[in-house]
Amino acid sequence: MLNLTAQTTIRELQEGPPALMQVLSSTGIFRDGDDASLTIGQLCLSWGLNPGILLMMLRPANVVKAAPPLDIGPFLRMPLPDFVTHIEEVYHAGLRGQLPRLQALTAEAAGAAPDDPRLAELRDGVGQLAEELIAHLAHEEEALFPMIRGLAAGTVVATRCGSAVGGPIACMENDHALAERALLRFRELTDDYSAPSGAGAMLDLLREFDRDLREHMYKENEALFPRAVEAQREAAQRQQAGAVPSRPAQFA
Ligand SMILES: [Fe+2]
Ligand SMILES: [Fe+2]
Repeated sequence: MLNLTAQTTIRELQEGPPALMQVLSSTGIFRDGDDASLTIGQLCLSWGLNPGILLMMLRPANVVKAAPPLDIGPFLRMPLPDFVTHIEEVYHAGLRGQLPRLQALTAEAAGAAPDDPRLAELRDGVGQLAEELIAHLAHEEEALFPMIRGLAAGTVVATRCGSAVGGPIACMENDHALAERALLRFRELTDDYSAPSGAGAMLDLLREFDRDLREHMYKENEALFPRAVEAQREAAQRQQAGAVPSRPAQFA
C-alpha cells in the first residue's frame, strides 16, 4: 500500500498495487510510454485537473488484493447487457432479500445479550451498511447501468449522473471500498463469523452475505467497470471517426 499524495510519482504508482495503474489508465491522462517520473500533481496540472479528484479515485485501488473470490474469465466475455442483468438478478435481488433478514437477526442477537458491546456494534454496523447498500444499488440501477446498456446499444443515455461512466464508477468503487471495510469489521466482531456460538442462523447468514457481496463487488470492479470504460472509449473513437451518426440523448 502506497502513501498517496500529489507528490507521488507515476513510477511509484506502477510499482504499487496493480489496480492503481488501471484507474489511472481509465482516466486517459496517462498512457504506456508517457513520462513516469512525473508526480500526480504535475500530471494533473498539465491536464488542468484537480489532483484531489484523481487521488480520491486512486484511494480505493490502493490496497493489496486478497485472493480472487472467483474466475473472472466468463464475465470478461459475457455481452455487457447480459452481464448487467446478471448482476441485478443475482446480486441486487439477493442483497434486497438478505439485508432485512440480517438486520433482524443482528438486532435479535444484540437484544439477547445487552451487555455485549460487540453485538451492539454489529447490529449498528449492519444497519448502516444496509442503508448505504440500498442507496448504492439504486445509483447503479438508475444511472450507471442504463449508461452501460446504452453504450452497448450505441446510444447515449443521459442520467442524473451525466452521460459518462467514469464519474459514477469512481463513486461506486469508493462505496465498494467502504463496504469491504465494514465486512472486515463484522469478521472481527464475530471472531471470523464463529461467535457467539448460540447465534447460528445469524452467523450462517453473515457468511453467505460476506461471500456474495465480495463476489458482487469483484465482478463489478474487475470486469464490469473496466469494460464499461473501454466501451465508452470505443464509442467516443467511433463518433470522432464519424462511423456512428450521433443520436439524440435518451433520458433514463
Ligand atoms: Fe452492484
Ligand atoms: Fe456496486
